[in-house]
Amino acid sequence: MPEDSMTIIDNRTGVSYTLPVKNGAIRAMDLRQIKTSPEDFGLITYDPAFMNTASCESRITFIDGDKGILQYRGYPIDQLAEHCTYLETAWLVLNGELPTEPQLEDWTCEIASHAAVPDDIPKILEGFRRDAHPMSVLASLVAALSTDYPEAKNVHDPAVRRLQIVRLLAQVPTLAAYAYRHSLGLPVVPPDPSLSYTENFLSMLWKKNEPNYRANPVLARALDVLFILHADHEQNCSTNAMRAIGSSLADPYMTMAGAIAALSGPLHGGANEEVLKMLDEIGSTDHIPAYIQKVKSGECKLMGFGHRVYKNYDPRARIIKRIAEQVFAVTGRNPKLDIAIALEKIALEDEYFVKRKLYPNVDFYSGIIYQAMGFQPEIFTVLFAIGRNAGWLAQWQELLADPAQKIARPRQVFLGSARREFVPMDQRGVAGAAGV
Ligand code: SDX
Repeated sequence: MPEDSMTIIDNRTGVSYTLPVKNGAIRAMDLRQIKTSPEDFGLITYDPAFMNTASCESRITFIDGDKGILQYRGYPIDQLAEHCTYLETAWLVLNGELPTEPQLEDWTCEIASHAAVPDDIPKILEGFRRDAHPMSVLASLVAALSTDYPEAKNVHDPAVRRLQIVRLLAQVPTLAAYAYRHSLGLPVVPPDPSLSYTENFLSMLWKKNEPNYRANPVLARALDVLFILHADHEQNCSTNAMRAIGSSLADPYMTMAGAIAALSGPLHGGANEEVLKMLDEIGSTDHIPAYIQKVKSGECKLMGFGHRVYKNYDPRARIIKRIAEQVFAVTGRNPKLDIAIALEKIALEDEYFVKRKLYPNVDFYSGIIYQAMGFQPEIFTVLFAIGRNAGWLAQWQELLADPAQKIARPRQVFLGSARREFVPMDQRGVAGAAGV
């Protein structure tokens, strides 16, 4: 009996099957041989929300949820946050190795040279209401880039893929800044290739009449580190969307528009905006016990807490807390931090949260920093998307290069009606089906 295997006995038939175990997993397709009769389709797995299902083999990001470990291509997140820039991290996530100095210089120049968006984008932008949510605008504009770069459909051409990856890394911050300026009724500010990636983003956001806008270097560095912390996170909801859409060979712009849509949900990237609303609702530390009771009664969730994988402190939240002090030294302390720290302390001592292993996640503190830097809550998740851009693209690239991958098409367990005959209108009962 091979060691890396397991034997399953089907009690329905008494037949036993030996399945190979590789990298801690069995192949779901190996279950299909388990049948009760030759006509039987064979065994499938039922795993809503993919709680225990690997959709791919990946070499990009490693997370140990019990130990609170996060590594990009083997490098611990705290070391990358301390020593790297976001573009350096993007190269690492995409190419598997840290860039040499010449590679990083060329990469930085190449990204800067592609930061301008096509001429039709400002015209499309004008069609949005001022109060259009920036995530909806961003998803729409990224999809619109698909019309400007039709050659992007050649997803199996490595040179075409690489050019679209450069364009998306370069232009998503520009689109985000344009969406923000539009919401304020301000003219857009074109990218300035003489600035670093994040300084240029801040210039496109905040520049007014001064000839050259120079962001505070502490704030620019803090935002660059926040982009690093958000760069990738293995098979999260929006990355799963990127892979599922990418598996149909859709172009990377349409694919990423879907990932942005997934990220916008309040259970995912939208949580950072919801945390600020929650802290505003709590209002002061003495209201925390009553709010915790609301959460424990199931009335609402403690936004920014909990995680599908981390059953320990999210290592990114720990780093973000450190960044907060650097930002507040420049901007002044955001009083919401005191409520957040008190909320975290009370929650981590409460049996409800301890039993469920609920800890602060990446979204718990990030919004407090963003707000202190002058960002409106509606743009917080856009900032998450700018960071996750590199990870989505790396995962998309890995999907296309993986010979084991095909178009994503899950099975289902069917519990609906058996075959039945059509019922003419005059014979249908009064009840009929309840409307949707
Ligand atoms: C991100 O996957 C990723 O990697 C995502 C991400 C990334 O980088 O891509 O890390 C980014 O999305 C972080 C998560 C941001 N979302 C939030 O902060 C929203 C609040 N958190 C929850 O909605 C929840 O914790 C999730 C969605 C993050 C995880 O949900 P799970 O894994 O499906 O867990 P669950 O809902 O099954 O919860 C298990 C139990 C339940 O209680 P019981 O039914 O057992 O009694 O824990 C409870 C839940 O009610 N619970 C919470 C809670 N999170 C889980 N109770 C109160 N507040 C919470 N936040």
